[in-house]
Amino acid sequence: MPDKKGPYVVSAQRGVHRTARRRRAILPTLLNNIRLSPGDRLLAVVDHALRALTTTPQAARPKPIPSRPGDALDDVERREAGALMRVNHVGEVCAQALYSAQALAASDPGLRRQFQQAAAEETDHLAWTAERLAELGARPSLLNPLWYAGAFAIGLVAARAGDARSLGFLVETERQVERHLEGHLDRLPLGDEASRAIVAQMKDDEAGHAMAAEHAGAVPLPAPVRWAMRAAAKVMTTTAHYV
Ligand SMILES: [Fe+2]
Ligand SMILES: [Fe+2]
Repeated sequence: MPDKKGPYVVSAQRGVHRTARRRRAILPTLLNNIRLSPGDRLLAVVDHALRALTTTPQAARPKPIPSRPGDALDDVERREAGALMRVNHVGEVCAQALYSAQALAASDPGLRRQFQQAAAEETDHLAWTAERLAELGARPSLLNPLWYAGAFAIGLVAARAGDARSLGFLVETERQVERHLEGHLDRLPLGDEASRAIVAQMKDDEAGHAMAAEHAGAVPLPAPVRWAMRAAAKVMTTTAHYV
């Protein structure tokens, strides 16, 4: 029975599709085979990157459906909605890279499983935003390989700082994404209920990821690191709006 949050119908509940998520997540090999040789791990990382960048992933959960039909969008509204959803799609490309890097370097099996759970939901987000982009007649960012590479490098640095700091990085990232998505709920055209339903569900999921990471033992990041992360995110979101 679907749960209701705000004006949107949430199309699936956590846990119900856990088995399906494991089967369809695009990060299973890397996470489930902790005894892979370094060469195999490298191949798994490359495989994951190629799948995130060149294929349309299959979501485990159905795309969130708005509780009321939206209005027809004019050309200006459609372009603006497309630009905002491109930014959100880039964010999910980066999430795949971050989780790939952190799973690669995480030392604790329980933490690796937590990354797996969150990564499966991020795969849903990647699929939903890609689908909505196509519906709006917009294209993904041309710079996605660059965003992926940058996020992967940052994720590796965070993971090398130890599991507690890696979790702290995850909390800060998810909190920033949550605030960013909240801003998009204000900026999306009022009649674009389809995009708003997706963004609302993503926002709830990101909050859940942050909370899970906090409970798993995250330590807060120093203020300068948080500021640097915000500045990097600003560059990414501003650029992806257009390119
Ligand atoms: Fe996400
Ligand atoms: Fe997330």
